[in-house]
Amino acid sequence: MGLSMALIITVANRKGGVGKTTIATNIAVALMNKGKTLLVDADEQRSAYKWNDFRESKLDSIAVHENLLDMLEKKVEDYDFILIDIAGRDSEVFREALLVTDKLVVPTQASLLDLEVIPYLEDKIQKVKTDNPTLEAYIVINKAPTNPKSSEIEQAKAYLADYPNFKLLQTVIKDRKQFRDAIVEAKSVSEMNSSKAKDEFNEFLIEVL
Ligand SMILES: Nc1ncnc2c1ncn2[C@@H]1O[C@H](COP(=O)(O)OP(=O)(O)OP(=O)(O)O)[C@@H](O)[C@H]1O
Ligand SMILES: [Mg+2]
Repeated sequence: MGLSMALIITVANRKGGVGKTTIATNIAVALMNKGKTLLVDADEQRSAYKWNDFRESKLDSIAVHENLLDMLEKKVEDYDFILIDIAGRDSEVFREALLVTDKLVVPTQASLLDLEVIPYLEDKIQKVKTDNPTLEAYIVINKAPTNPKSSEIEQAKAYLADYPNFKLLQTVIKDRKQFRDAIVEAKSVSEMNSSKAKDEFNEFLIEVL
């Protein structure tokens, strides 16, 4: 054991396009204001890495596609927080991340096609509990419809209540343009004008951190 070990947060889902990178980049900015933070981009697309590269106030960031554990072992004593953005498919890097992650954040959209991967993730977490018993796993509904008449959110919440390895977050992150704009501007929503996106993301952070 080192003197101090980074808290490791992983954002993952085998589904693509559910908002992993969006949520990872927004968490990253929140963490960098709390302590020394490393942003690990474990997706070949390198979206998070590139987002950081365009920023004025950059985080430390590395792109990793294999041997995640070797890299983490070298870095874990140098940081307060390590945030990992995982590719939207099954990967060795995801398996490695599960072994050492303190907090796993799984964003999902509310539709049935996006939810069908959850039983598989529930099983993965169950299996990794022997090696990583303190892992906390959270599901957050993202890109949810803003139309108050939509029943999709309530239906998704009901479905997700049946997976005991996951804590379903109360906060629902809605489909808001500001999240897309923030990525393009190499910012977090917290660095933009006040908005519902910013308020929602703050609620999310309170639940997860
Ligand atoms: N809450 C949101 N509101 C509006 N747009 C969003 C939201 N979350 C994500 N998006 C948009 O959805 C698209 C996919 O998001 P993102 O790239 O973060 O997903 P991902 O899960 O990382 O995808 P991939 O599997 O390709 O890595 C992007 O255009 C992003 O700007
Ligand atoms: Mg991504």
